[in-house]
Amino acid sequence: MEQNRGSWGSNIGFLLAAIGSAVGLGNIWGFPYKMGKSGGFTFLLIYLLLAVFVGFIIMMGELSLGRKTGKGTVGAYRSLSKRFKWIGWLAVFSPFVIMSFYSVLGGYCIEYMSLNLSNLAFAGAEIKTGADLFGAMLTNPFGCVMFTLLFLVICYLINRGGVSGGIEKFNKVGMPALFVMLVIIIIRSLTLPGAMEGLKFMFVPGYAVKAGFIKEAPKFATVLATAGGQMFFSLSLAMGAMITYGSYLSKQEDLVKNSAIIVIADTIVATMAGIAVIPAAVANGIAQINAGATVIDAVTGLERAMTFADIKLGGPSLLFVTLQDVFQAMGTVGPLFGVIFYLLVLIAAISSAISLIEVVVTYFMDRAAEKGKQGNRPKVVLWVCLAILVEATVVALDGLGTNVLNIWVPLQNSFGVIGEFNDCWLDFMDTLSEGIAMPLGALLMSLMVGWEIKPKTLLDEIHQGSAAKIDGFFSFCMKFIVPLGMLLILVGQVDTFFHLGIF
Ligand code: PFF
Repeated sequence: MEQNRGSWGSNIGFLLAAIGSAVGLGNIWGFPYKMGKSGGFTFLLIYLLLAVFVGFIIMMGELSLGRKTGKGTVGAYRSLSKRFKWIGWLAVFSPFVIMSFYSVLGGYCIEYMSLNLSNLAFAGAEIKTGADLFGAMLTNPFGCVMFTLLFLVICYLINRGGVSGGIEKFNKVGMPALFVMLVIIIIRSLTLPGAMEGLKFMFVPGYAVKAGFIKEAPKFATVLATAGGQMFFSLSLAMGAMITYGSYLSKQEDLVKNSAIIVIADTIVATMAGIAVIPAAVANGIAQINAGATVIDAVTGLERAMTFADIKLGGPSLLFVTLQDVFQAMGTVGPLFGVIFYLLVLIAAISSAISLIEVVVTYFMDRAAEKGKQGNRPKVVLWVCLAILVEATVVALDGLGTNVLNIWVPLQNSFGVIGEFNDCWLDFMDTLSEGIAMPLGALLMSLMVGWEIKPKTLLDEIHQGSAAKIDGFFSFCMKFIVPLGMLLILVGQVDTFFHLGIF
């Protein structure tokens, strides 16, 4: 059965697909706003350290785990470990949960792209503000479900083509296109008046507080937990994606070099996305302040002049309200940049979503092979996408807590224990997967590799295609640094979500 499993067409094809999995909404949306919320530069520094000492190590670990066993997540853990064989299930469950909101956000991108396209085609027609558009979109649950469906249909068509015939093909065109579009948006963003304030916010230590963007710097533990969670999500780790992609990789490829390239490329794109998004949002805010804009004060309820602290750099509003306003403020060329930007985000979302879907698909395909049968890929992909559509419909109908199916507000009113949830299904699913399952999965994986099967088991696999002298570094990080970092991140996440005040 082994030869029927399929493999990547080339190493560059694998690399583009892995980078495609890593580069997603997490880079373009999550990274800039988490960086903003966490005081800019400190976050960047911690993120980079974590990427080298934790992200790079786990990336090598996952790719080698997949390649060594030639199996998807469940099969890989099962064949290597007695004590931890069930972790594989965690890593099939989490991608499935992530897809519940990832596909809804992908649907939003399609909607915004078409909206800008129609603004481009019907120049001069009445144009709504970003906030009005976002509100109109969320309160139209039927539309949200339809766009989510459209997003899933695109993913279905790609995944059914297989690893080299679908995923690799899409990324070979999609990734270079995304890069070019990102450069175009960066140039436009940095040439807006006031953009330099945004750059300083990102790269000058302490500037976010000094200039009044945020009141005070967040606690170190909070920044660590935020940066850690973000790093995992952004690198597609502890979700089975890299184990799955690694299982289709040929033995002679260099896993050390490949892991380094994926981590570096993802970090560069996240930083570039920050440079594309933050300065544009700040420039637009400054233009509003200079024009004498006012806001309603959240505490006093009175109208007052807008300040730097009112520039929205976080949450879904950054992508779908603030940036839409930026494009609208650009005049006739605005919608063109809008189309480019939302298409870019859409490609990033698709290339990540197909890796999440592939984790689940590969599990079913491997299971069929174990039973001596040849799995029917199109059928498996169809069922997986349909199951995702069901859970995504709940998130889409909820409209970030504005619509039907919202059980979180009444729950919070009754028990008041859900802490940081924004009272919506998306946050619940995000907490479950990104917040808890991801660091937990990584912690267990490092314990398994570091202490049960021993790092040497994976190092032997890594050395099949690489002579790099990383044994000491890999073993030390896997045994001590990764578990410690994961534990801190996990406790930090739980602390933030439930307001326990541990740190
Ligand atoms: N890395 C993706 C992002 O940054 O948006 C999300 C993701 C994809 C997470 C695949 C996990 C995964 F397995």
